[in-house]
Amino acid sequence: MTSMLKGRATAQATAAYAGRFADLPGNFREMTGVAVSSIGLGTYLGEPDDATDAAYAEAIRTALRGGINLLDTAVNYRFQRSERAIGAVLKEMAGQGAIRREEIVVATKGGYLTFDGAVPPDPRRWFEEHFIRPGIVAADDLVEGSHCLTPRWLAAMIELSRANLGLETIDIYYLHNPEAQLPSVGREEFKRRIRAAFDLLEAKAAEGLIRVYGAATWNGLRVAPDDRSYLSLAEMAALAEEAGGKDHRFRVIQMPYNLAMAEAFTSRNQRLPDGAMGNTLAAADALGIAVCASASLLQGRLTRGLPPLLNDAFDGLESDAQRALQFVRSTPGITVALAGMSSAAHVADNLGVARRPPAPFDRLMRLFKKVG
Ligand SMILES: NC(=O)c1ccc[n+]([C@@H]2O[C@H](COP(=O)([O-])OP(=O)(O)OC[C@H]3O[C@@H](n4cnc5c(N)ncnc54)[C@H](OP(=O)(O)O)[C@@H]3O)[C@@H](O)[C@H]2O)c1
Repeated sequence: MTSMLKGRATAQATAAYAGRFADLPGNFREMTGVAVSSIGLGTYLGEPDDATDAAYAEAIRTALRGGINLLDTAVNYRFQRSERAIGAVLKEMAGQGAIRREEIVVATKGGYLTFDGAVPPDPRRWFEEHFIRPGIVAADDLVEGSHCLTPRWLAAMIELSRANLGLETIDIYYLHNPEAQLPSVGREEFKRRIRAAFDLLEAKAAEGLIRVYGAATWNGLRVAPDDRSYLSLAEMAALAEEAGGKDHRFRVIQMPYNLAMAEAFTSRNQRLPDGAMGNTLAAADALGIAVCASASLLQGRLTRGLPPLLNDAFDGLESDAQRALQFVRSTPGITVALAGMSSAAHVADNLGVARRPPAPFDRLMRLFKKVG
């Protein structure tokens, strides 16, 4: 294995990074004890090819130079190519002294099966050779043939991600769409699986291979409690406490949040510590768990043609992408708005929002009233 960058994001180094961007006064927030930019760079979309790797590399350089210090990926994004693109740029820029590893927060995810850079000619055989025969996964560990949360699988995925990213320590390690298991295995078995996964993640944190962990979700935190895919944040936090005690490291969740998917704020689907029902943002806050918004631009669909009322709500912004991001990063309880960016020009556009303070709460509320 080639040499890995040592260390992890620290309070001191991320504060020093933030201090270099006097032109972005409202940009940095505290999350899990470190300073993170209010906009994070996501790496989900795009073809698994060299041209997209090169585009992501340039976008990541532009982001790190411009005041974005949170990078979000997953082992299966573009069949490991997104992790490798991040790893290559971190190595390059740390080597040049342009960044220090401790200034950057890197988040990745495990749960889905992945190929190696491209779909192999015989996917079934490839998977059998690489994962089943070495005993990393048994066929009946898989849900819908593509999702696995066993400790053995997660341990192997953490090693793969560390190698791809070239990092000794991953800052945030998410279970990727854990709710994907629920319809197949039922609630009691799901809880057993999450508890076993959290035991593993606590052990990996104690070893220094990850710093904190979380759940990156799609439907689970947006749907009603009687939905088969529903995730209870209080229940997951209780499982984390069983696994790691009061100082457990289940400290971040990710869920879609944007102008068209606002359930994190609008849906009272989570039990709060006082017994009342509240939204996910309130539940997360009460449990000491930070929230990163995914799909802030609804996979690019909110970057053009937004209704003019948004221009009024967010005056001074120059593009619909900026307005859509401003909505997300201004919502109290959202720490980071993740935007997928494989284009350096999009990074530059989105940094235009980081120059602005977040919109005041009453402006956002007026928007909900007008839309709702
Ligand atoms: N379940 C999960 O865990 C989950 C699910 C979805 C997403 N995520 C995470 O959240 C991140 C963000 O979500 P996403 O990538 O799915 O969707 P997104 O951020 O809503 O949208 C990304 C798309 O918007 C385009 N874009 C970005 N800035 C723009 C601008 N200023 N003007 C015009 N277009 C712009 C991007 O184009 P270019 O690529 O050309 O720059 C890309 O096509 C992901 O990358 C991933 O890290 C997690």
